[in-house]
Amino acid sequence: MKKQIISLLFSAFSLIVCAEVNYQVVPLPQQISIDKSGQYMTLSKGMTVGYPSGNQQMKRNAEFAAEYLGLIVKEPNNKTADVNLLLDLKSDNPDAYSISINKKGITIQGASESGVFYGIQTLRKSIMNETGEVRLPYALVSGSPRFGYRGTELDCARHFFPVSFIKKFIDILALHGINRFHWHLTDDQGWRFEVKALPELAKKASVRPCTVVGKNVGLSDPNNAIYDDTPETGYYTQEEMREVVAYAAERYITIIPEIDLPGHMIAALSVYPHLGCTGGPYKVWGIWGVADDVLCAGNPKTLEFLKTVYGELCDVFPSKLIHIGGDESPRVRWKSCPKCQAKMKELGLKNEAELQTYINKEMEAFLALRGRQLIGWDETLEGGLSENAAVMSWRGYEGGKAAAKLHHHVVMTPTNNCYFDYYQLKNRDVQPLGIGGYLPLSKVYSMEPVPEDLTKEEAQYILGAQCNLWTEYMLSPDHVEYMLLPRLAAMSEVQWLQPEAKNYEQFLARLASLEQSYRRLGYKFCTAYE
Ligand code: ACM
Ligand code: ZN
Repeated sequence: MKKQIISLLFSAFSLIVCAEVNYQVVPLPQQISIDKSGQYMTLSKGMTVGYPSGNQQMKRNAEFAAEYLGLIVKEPNNKTADVNLLLDLKSDNPDAYSISINKKGITIQGASESGVFYGIQTLRKSIMNETGEVRLPYALVSGSPRFGYRGTELDCARHFFPVSFIKKFIDILALHGINRFHWHLTDDQGWRFEVKALPELAKKASVRPCTVVGKNVGLSDPNNAIYDDTPETGYYTQEEMREVVAYAAERYITIIPEIDLPGHMIAALSVYPHLGCTGGPYKVWGIWGVADDVLCAGNPKTLEFLKTVYGELCDVFPSKLIHIGGDESPRVRWKSCPKCQAKMKELGLKNEAELQTYINKEMEAFLALRGRQLIGWDETLEGGLSENAAVMSWRGYEGGKAAAKLHHHVVMTPTNNCYFDYYQLKNRDVQPLGIGGYLPLSKVYSMEPVPEDLTKEEAQYILGAQCNLWTEYMLSPDHVEYMLLPRLAAMSEVQWLQPEAKNYEQFLARLASLEQSYRRLGYKFCTAYE
């Protein structure tokens, strides 16, 4: 009897410290079939991970698996390790993965190397919060993302974030199955991209001597603002950016760089005032908002400048898509600029919106020579899209819908579902100062990137969805993380799951476990949600 009690106590204890994992992670796998036999595999130190020979990406995947699961990397081998990484999954989706756990061990198969990486991440999240012995029930677990473009944007112009944080940010994206990092590198308030042929940009246009204190809603005259006395400075050298590109690539994340044109250019104008319609002088902006001063579209030097900048941008970033911005570019200066008006006359353009399209077409041709494709915010539709432009729809879904109907590729990032600079709780007093708006977790989760009134053919042009972090009011990495998490988890399921597989209540249960992982990894996050 005594023995039985001890044994019962021991079983209860082992239930607590040896809980079996359930593979219910974020994003939820498409299939989780637990073997009815009740058998399981115990993960233990000293187990090995193997990968196919001659494949450097798979070797790196094996290193990730070793790091996350506590394994030892074996020399390339033929499926003789405890955990075997393989590339033989049959699927049209390169990011698809399957994990089988059975008496032979663990096999993670991918339709490509990225699929294997996502399988590793799923297993990593499954076990990360386990203490004591980790028991993996025999199972088949598989996943495949709904969209090929799963993006997150970070604005490093309004505030500069060091390379060490950019790498951490990329790690966070990888944990959530994100595969595009849209890097906003320049704006009115700071230029962060080193251009070797134009050194003034990094040296001077990256320096904002002071910043408006608090909000400057409706303030269009910088002279009326109250400023702090804290300079905001910093830029990324090309060497650093190349290093970040490689770091992201190992995690199957493509970096899409953005140099915003022809608006959001005051930082550049501050060092090259002849590129503005009025000739300046201009100062790196210390207030927020939309500036009337933009690049002069009638000055041939403007295109010369842009091609120099974008030439170096293409040298650093191998991404097929290159973001030219195009948003919030008032045309008021162009209306009264003799050079811009003469250009319109020369080209027979009806209005200033078409003048913006003229620049876009020039940039599209320039990028095409380098094998790249232009993507721009939805304002680029206004004067007519250039032939192969992709569109990032931010002012709602309408721009994206119009572009898809014209058979242009679209990334959906409407403010109402995707602007993570908005407050996440109704009570603003319990959150750091933000830009405004209200985007709770539940609203992110409810996003449907494909408008229902598109035909099946048009819907094919929706590449995916993206959340955006504009950083006017995010001064520190901690604040960026707080705004990103846990809303990125909701976005991740928007990007990965078919609509019928989404379930907000069940997502919240999975999120509880993911939050434990955030703590473990030292990520800041908003612990309340609505
Ligand atoms: C944007 O938020 N101006 C794209
Ligand atoms: Zn002009």
